[in-house]
Amino acid sequence: MSIVLEQVTVSYGRGARRFDAARDVSLSVAQGDAFGLVGESGSGKSTVLRAVAGLIAHAEGKVVLDGQTMTRRRTTAQRKMVQMVFQDPYGSLHPNQTVDQTLSMPVAIHKLGNADRRVAAALDEVGLGPTHRFRYPHQLSGGQRQRVAIARALILEPRILLLDEPTSALDVSVQAEILNLLSRLRREHGLTMLMVSHDLAVIAHLCDRIAVMNGGEIVETTTADALAAGDVNNPYTRQLLRSNKGLDSSGGELDLLDAVPIRG
Ligand SMILES: Nc1ncnc2c1ncn2[C@@H]1O[C@H](COP(=O)(O)OP(=O)(O)O)[C@@H](O)[C@H]1O
Ligand SMILES: [Mg+2]
Repeated sequence: MSIVLEQVTVSYGRGARRFDAARDVSLSVAQGDAFGLVGESGSGKSTVLRAVAGLIAHAEGKVVLDGQTMTRRRTTAQRKMVQMVFQDPYGSLHPNQTVDQTLSMPVAIHKLGNADRRVAAALDEVGLGPTHRFRYPHQLSGGQRQRVAIARALILEPRILLLDEPTSALDVSVQAEILNLLSRLRREHGLTMLMVSHDLAVIAHLCDRIAVMNGGEIVETTTADALAAGDVNNPYTRQLLRSNKGLDSSGGELDLLDAVPIRG
């Protein structure tokens, strides 16, 4: 399912207190592609994701999914098609619910039936076995919790997966495992992905096309290949690339990510 944003502006507050967290954001992601939004904290990345998910009441511009312009109130079917995964799986999973309960809930809400089979299949899909099914979040590692959060999104069979800093709370080696998983899921399910991160290396490993955000606006749209080649025009992007240690630097985080084959 394709994603097109046309001059989306999202503001918080009203009147003199009005603040545009995203301004005139336009982008387009073809069916099955992975698109990355990168930028510093506060640049408006999560706000853009919320607009795509329909979680924002006051947005200007157009959100077009699969050729359909979204209206203020989405239908149940439209909501099911777009699922989101957040940064902090510990915060987004209910501490008093087992994995089984967490995964069964959306199946019940959307009246999909076959909860038992769907839960088992979703766990298998994210590389968790039946032994994890009746555990509570505190009995899982950070990476396992994020796998549960991904399974919870997948269980509704969405066409679009929105990922908000999905690996930022994880150790570097676990980050790579989760990026691998996402890459495989995109391929196997033909999912369209829109991922947000402050980390260029993380974005570049999953996404072919990348938009750089600064102060609520997209300042440059480029490709992972162009960034890796240092082919950067915008001064802000250049600065971001430098502060992310560059994509071709040796040592540190990037090497570890490079050690794990993500694509292909
Ligand atoms: N609900 C809100 N009310 C008011 N301001 C908000 C709200 N959510 C985010 N903001 C502000 O909007 C800007 C962009 O936030 P956000 O989209 O979360 O950025 P990012 O995800 O890039 O860190 C920030 O300045 C933030 O403080
Ligand atoms: Mg954010």
